Amino acid sequence: MTIRIGFVGCGLIAGFHAAGLEHVPDAEITAVFDVDDARRNRFADAHSARAVTSLDELVAAVDAVYVTTWTAAHPDAVEAVAAAGLPVFCEKPLGVDLATAQAMEATVRAAGVVNQVGLVLRSSPAFRWLREQVRSGRHGVPMSMVFRDDQYLPTRGMYASTWRGDPALAGSGALLEHSIHDLDLIEWILGDIVSVNAVTDFAHEIDGIEDQVSVIMRTAEGAQAVLSSTWHDIDSRPSQRSVEVFCRSGHLAVEGDWFGPVRQQTSTEDPQTLEGRELVDSIRPIDGIAGNPDADFVHAVRTGQPAHPDFAVAVRAHVLADAAYRSASEGGAPIDVRVTRSDEQPPTG
Ligand SMILES: NC(=O)c1ccc[n+]([C@@H]2O[C@H](COP(=O)([O-])OP(=O)(O)OC[C@H]3O[C@@H](n4cnc5c(N)ncnc54)[C@H](O)[C@@H]3O)[C@@H](O)[C@H]2O)c1
Repeated sequence: MTIRIGFVGCGLIAGFHAAGLEHVPDAEITAVFDVDDARRNRFADAHSARAVTSLDELVAAVDAVYVTTWTAAHPDAVEAVAAAGLPVFCEKPLGVDLATAQAMEATVRAAGVVNQVGLVLRSSPAFRWLREQVRSGRHGVPMSMVFRDDQYLPTRGMYASTWRGDPALAGSGALLEHSIHDLDLIEWILGDIVSVNAVTDFAHEIDGIEDQVSVIMRTAEGAQAVLSSTWHDIDSRPSQRSVEVFCRSGHLAVEGDWFGPVRQQTSTEDPQTLEGRELVDSIRPIDGIAGNPDADFVHAVRTGQPAHPDFAVAVRAHVLADAAYRSASEGGAPIDVRVTRSDEQPPTG
């Protein structure tokens, strides 16, 4: 049976998911909606889908929905999709703040619908490799991580999104809008974070949109992580992440955030580098993750099994972001973020 997919929001990230869906058998984009008529019609034409003029019309026409609007419009769309009893894939961040994200998670839980969030870097071969290296224990306990993330101010260039400069639509700046991925990855790789300290700055002087943030985190196992995220003016530089982890007897590095290169140096072996196909082939047999979050979502829709990462995972990333903002507003004071839950769920697809 072909799964009929709908999109609400036909911008940049919708295009990426549409590309991911092209590799998924028996799934097709059948209806799309955007408040911007030109975008809606262009996206509909590109995917031979029907351009509909309301959310009600959309949910009546499909089996599952991607919510890919700007962030402030996510909650209403998710509520409408959940009320119709349909599976929902919502982009990160879920909402403009923690309370909104928690309410959205409660909505999909109460409706009992399959839900997945766009924390897509959990599918990245490079970060899956790093996680496996750290969590295997073969390099000894993790001690420190330096996670550097940068991109040009995304109100221009390929993002061309004025909404990213408006806190009412984006929530806030570099940390929530972009580096929520990084907070999620850091805990996913290093284990439970127990405390967060942060500072934020506003070099571009856009109210409520921080463009420099540094976050220091400690884990329950005693590791330290430092996240540095910057929005600059170097338009020729694509969004880039660079991550280094020191375990007691191993140094691990990610230099390209999907296909590597990744590097490891240990106290007993020669340095090694992996990238591209070799990296994919090395991690896939170990974690069994297909590496296409859109295929994972369609699989969950088809089988009714829980999707991953789901809204509950996203709420935890929101908790970490919220703690960082609270710390920054208190001059970098430590914020306790200890949890008693485990967010480890088996991957689907
Ligand atoms: N997972 C990732 O790596 C990633 C990457 C980029 C963006 N995102 C997230 O995806 C979301 C969209 O970002 P984007 O870059 O595609 O933005 P975009 O500006 O390119 O597209 C957003 C679209 O939503 C439409 N829209 C806004 N409100 C709407 C509503 N109520 N109903 C229907 N359509 C509406 C806009 O007209 C626009 O076409 C944001 O939440 C962003 O944070 C995630």
